[in-house]
Amino acid sequence: MPSPSIIVTRRLPAPIEEALVRDYGAVLNPDDHQFNADELRDALQRFDIVLCTLTDRLTRDVLMVAGRRARFLANFGVGLNHIDLAAAREAGLMVSNTPGVLTEDTADLTMLLLLAAARRAWEGDRELRAGLWTGWRPTHLLGTRLSGKTLGIAGLGRIGEAVARRARLGFGMSVAYWSRTRRPEVESELSVTWCPTLRELLGQSDFVTLHCPATADTRHLINADTLASMRSGAFLVNTSRGDVVDEAALLEALRSGRLAGAALDVFEGEPAVNPRLLSLANVTTLPHLGSATIESRVAMGERVLRNIGAFVTGAPLPDRVD
Ligand code: DGY
Repeated sequence: MPSPSIIVTRRLPAPIEEALVRDYGAVLNPDDHQFNADELRDALQRFDIVLCTLTDRLTRDVLMVAGRRARFLANFGVGLNHIDLAAAREAGLMVSNTPGVLTEDTADLTMLLLLAAARRAWEGDRELRAGLWTGWRPTHLLGTRLSGKTLGIAGLGRIGEAVARRARLGFGMSVAYWSRTRRPEVESELSVTWCPTLRELLGQSDFVTLHCPATADTRHLINADTLASMRSGAFLVNTSRGDVVDEAALLEALRSGRLAGAALDVFEGEPAVNPRLLSLANVTTLPHLGSATIESRVAMGERVLRNIGAFVTGAPLPDRVD
């Protein structure tokens, strides 16, 4: 098969871009701007492979562009909620993602957010930078201990499991989970408890962390109704996708003091972030940094290269998504 034409929609780590250009003459995006719908349509019309990522809104309308040449969407990232998978299937487009390689780093970042929220780290940082620190005092910025508390994990996939391991073995927390698939082997290895319903999980957790994929079923999984099941004074952490949380309802739960705090790496309308969230002292935020280490991002790129390599030789894609 002749080498396919490839377009890369965002800047990638240098070794990955170098391999893509060297091996396939890929077209890069040197100024790293986000492709709009017309640019995505154009990419689908002119290239065999679109190496896309989560900022590309590959809607049905975009995917069904007339005169489409593309046959493969090689996604840089594990989450696929930016691609209309049903439309991709109908259009005969193969899709792959990059599972596994960002698990540990995303779990680390989840622990960072848990700790930051519990120990009010960002509040302390802001105070220092504003020159407002007057010195040590016994009642200053008191937070909450993690050890001995219950962490509720919604979604025990790879990342949820890596978080459970850290929380149990590293931080002495009790861990409960609710998930689409029950994981008896993780239950016995890490002594984590399964909850048959989300409400049950929320009702027994001091901290709740979300690790479910964003799908039609999980949209606004955390809403006014489910937030009401959370323990008063609990914390919510989200490193999955913004759509899983109804931010208006979360704001109300934080404003009323029902929740002690939230720590968010992802947002409903990102990169726009509701300014009301940013105005609350008990909200800790990061700009979608879950997998943002050199190691993860290079490994994600290598995974994309493996999938492209398989596509080129007609072999089954190692990370094909159906
Ligand atoms: C993913 O892979 O979907 C992540 O959100 C990127 O960090």
